[in-house]
Amino acid sequence: MNFLNRAFSRFGYKKNIDRLLEEARDEKKGLAKTLTAKDLIVLGVAGIIGAGIFVLIGQGIQESGAGVIPAFVIAALICAVAGYAYAELASSIPASGSAYAYIYTALGELPGWFVAWALVLEYAVGAIAVSIGWRNNLLALVNQFHDSDPTTDVFSNDNAWFGSATEWAYRFTHSPFEHVTLDNGSVLDGLINLPSVAIVALVTLLLVRGTKESAKFTFVLVLIKVSILLLAIVGGFLAFDAANFDDPFPHPTVDFPDIPDTRGFWPATGAIIASAAIMFFAYIGFDSVSTTAEETKNPKKDMPRGILGSLAITTVLYVLAALALTSASHWTQFVGDSVAATNARGEPFGYVFEQNGFLEVGGFALGALLIRIGALVGTTSVLLVLILGGVRVFFNMSRDGL
Ligand code: ALA
Repeated sequence: MNFLNRAFSRFGYKKNIDRLLEEARDEKKGLAKTLTAKDLIVLGVAGIIGAGIFVLIGQGIQESGAGVIPAFVIAALICAVAGYAYAELASSIPASGSAYAYIYTALGELPGWFVAWALVLEYAVGAIAVSIGWRNNLLALVNQFHDSDPTTDVFSNDNAWFGSATEWAYRFTHSPFEHVTLDNGSVLDGLINLPSVAIVALVTLLLVRGTKESAKFTFVLVLIKVSILLLAIVGGFLAFDAANFDDPFPHPTVDFPDIPDTRGFWPATGAIIASAAIMFFAYIGFDSVSTTAEETKNPKKDMPRGILGSLAITTVLYVLAALALTSASHWTQFVGDSVAATNARGEPFGYVFEQNGFLEVGGFALGALLIRIGALVGTTSVLLVLILGGVRVFFNMSRDGL
């Protein structure tokens, strides 16, 4: 009761905006001001391009086929509206707490406290999904050295790579929610996804070493992942097949009798909106730029440029990548429970490029390998930003004694 009394008596307590700015300026309590608009755009792109485009686009295609292209545009428009609000608030309340600081200042302590935990949840759940995407690409990379057939995986093959340890290798790389049907018909369940645990621990260690080192590291990661995404776009267009757009929306077929029919104006619109809801994830990260407002030299000018600039760049890249992927593959490859469809959804570009032999050298799909490395790099940089974003929110809450 005491806690409730205290919580509600403080409900209306609002943080004074002048005090907040003073805190941010305070050399001891505040953070050093070193970031420019260019740094913010790099940081935005670092936090945005990751599992969404390299992994989840497969689910977007499963949902709406080539409708994933307008889905990216719709999700971008919605993010732009939110991004504009973030930019406006971040430039007038340049503290590091992002939405937490804005709500604390505008509505009071208790709503601010709720929003802070919602933000922590957003970053944590985001990091979980991204670390799973990281694992998918790692396994696809291992599989590529095992055989050149992306429709199999290292575990389900009769001649599985890990021999008698295969079952344990599967259990320790998959969560209990995942399972695979082996070639001999038996079903294997996961136990713990250790690769994802390991990458999250590694990124956390890197951040503990200091954000200055990680800022340089982030820049290199952004450079690599954007170059490889551009390569993926080129690869997709090189494999362009207009026939893939003849039957662009998923519908029941002999092989997939149970999927919904999304043909026709309204069903297609519904599928595109559902797909946009999934692809929204691909843009998450633009908001993390606002958490650095306190470290920005000139937040009034640089915040809108950083947030909206990184959104604009990623939107162009995403739409081109979606167009490239759907022109090189058909939605039927992404539907169903087969190992092949699971792999296609798990790392679509690598899968498609290994199948169509993009940049093949002596029978080895170099293009697919590069894409997988790019996806690993991309998801790592997103993890850096998401985990750092969560820590910044904690920093603000603790500075306020919450
Ligand atoms: N936007 C981030 C990603 O796609 C979360 O990985």
